[in-house]
Amino acid sequence: MLLMIAAQAILAHTDLEEKEVLSLFEVPPQPEWGDMAFPCFVLAKKFRKSPQQIAMELAELVNHEAGLTASASGAYVNIILDRSVHIPTMLAELSKPEFLKPNIGNGQRVVIDMSSPNIAKPFGIGHLRSTVIGAALYRILGETGYVPISVNHLGDWGTQFGKQIAAYKRWGNEEQLQHDPIGESLKLYVRFHQEAEHDPSLEDEGREWFRRLEHGDTEAQQLWEFFVEVSLGEFDRMYQRLNISFDHVLGESFYNDKMQAVVARLRAKGLLEESDGALVVRLDDEQLPPCLILKKDGTTIYPTRDLATAIYRHEVMKADRLLYVVGGEQKLHFQQVFAVLKQAGETWAEQCEHVPFGLMRFAGKKMSTRRGKVVKLEEVLDEAVARAQAIIAEKNPNLLEQEATAEDVGIGAIIFGDLKNNRLNEVDFSLEEALTFEGETGPYVQYTHARIRSLLEKARARADVDSNSSHNTLAQDGHSPDLHIVSDEMLGDAGWALLKQLDRYHGQLIRTVQQLEPSVIARFAIDTAQAFNRFYAKERIVDGGQWRLQLAEQTADMLAGTLRLLGLKAPNRM
Ligand code: ARG
Repeated sequence: MLLMIAAQAILAHTDLEEKEVLSLFEVPPQPEWGDMAFPCFVLAKKFRKSPQQIAMELAELVNHEAGLTASASGAYVNIILDRSVHIPTMLAELSKPEFLKPNIGNGQRVVIDMSSPNIAKPFGIGHLRSTVIGAALYRILGETGYVPISVNHLGDWGTQFGKQIAAYKRWGNEEQLQHDPIGESLKLYVRFHQEAEHDPSLEDEGREWFRRLEHGDTEAQQLWEFFVEVSLGEFDRMYQRLNISFDHVLGESFYNDKMQAVVARLRAKGLLEESDGALVVRLDDEQLPPCLILKKDGTTIYPTRDLATAIYRHEVMKADRLLYVVGGEQKLHFQQVFAVLKQAGETWAEQCEHVPFGLMRFAGKKMSTRRGKVVKLEEVLDEAVARAQAIIAEKNPNLLEQEATAEDVGIGAIIFGDLKNNRLNEVDFSLEEALTFEGETGPYVQYTHARIRSLLEKARARADVDSNSSHNTLAQDGHSPDLHIVSDEMLGDAGWALLKQLDRYHGQLIRTVQQLEPSVIARFAIDTAQAFNRFYAKERIVDGGQWRLQLAEQTADMLAGTLRLLGLKAPNRM
């Protein structure tokens, strides 16, 4: 809104395009200089004058606009908004649906491939990132006019299941697998790889079991189902705590009967070539290594399954756009899959997009399944909650529902600690850091939100005491109509800065969608909490006038909304 107001003033006096003007505006480095600054360099050629000269003339013109003050500073026109004129409209704007939920998606259907852990293997940190980033994108797209469809593409197929079965047949124990599905599966997996180093026949055995599985052998099928069931049980516990559900859980196995059609399609297009007995699609034109489609023994492979999956999402799920929230290490895989689709004449391959993210380590530990050294995510979640509980017990010993709040804060710290980073960055995750109530953390944002709620409660209680008027409905509907008891006191610099910060929400939400980058909106939440805390330190809020109360309430609503989009709870007390 601020930008629009400033832009209108410039547009009134130049013949520039609105889009161009909007993109040129800058926020001055010092708030005293102005609320917005317009650089005049682009106009220099057109007017054959120096940008400085133009800035002076333009400032003069803008200065005559109602509610604005303008001055030239070098090549810039600095514009200051008259607060008393603009505060009410800017405050009102903040709760409008078109501000909070801009329709940029126009009902486009976006299938989001997210989480997608592998059966019989630990839920990795990469899967956690995919889950958390994917779920945030899902909610954000849903709020901006898209129709998001989430799919958990379980890794429940492939040669590794042959190995798993082979290992289980040799050394496995049903009871142990029931009791600790993933731990036990992992042990078998590790042992398989250790022994296979000096006994190559094991690998053949594994391959043979997978071949049997792919051809519907009953024993293989039953063992596989058992692995899937026990692993899913363990994953579901984690999803529940992260408060995540999926529109579809369709593992790779789902595409088993759709694979031959893919192979046939590629063959019909003349794309399949033999290479060492295997079938590949050459991608020389794209300067990519060939994509393996069928192995020597006739079994399918990861890319083949992703081809079938993409076609299914396009044809059956009617996806307009296909997103894959998967670690950056799979870049080549997706390049190949999308390139094969393109070669096969699937024009919609353009709408497929890998949404990669960087590696995350917990306190320096990386995961390596092969060696069996793994950070157990459930333990990480438990530890985060325990630490949150300890902090809350110390800060607010009288808080009711400490346990539930600790869960919200602990889990929230992990989610936010992930999302606040540009997704491509590598993250060295420290629980201690993620849980501080004063840093750039989820708990800090949650705490700021709770603090505002309690301030508002105090203000409401005060209003109830001070006012005998029967039409004071404040306590009932939770929103602040007239308070009657105080006059509108002007916002100070800190309050004005906070209002301008809230005003950025719309633009930041759109940027989040354009870049598929939840960190943009997570950063917005931190900046907003910080702006509020400066406001709180500098200006009276309770008894500070209607605008300040309204501003505080808008801030709380916006923080709660943003936390919700990111997947965090916003408790009213902490
Ligand atoms: N299960 C795979 C892994 O853990 C990730 C799957 C990603 N999605 C996909 N459509 N390939 O590496």
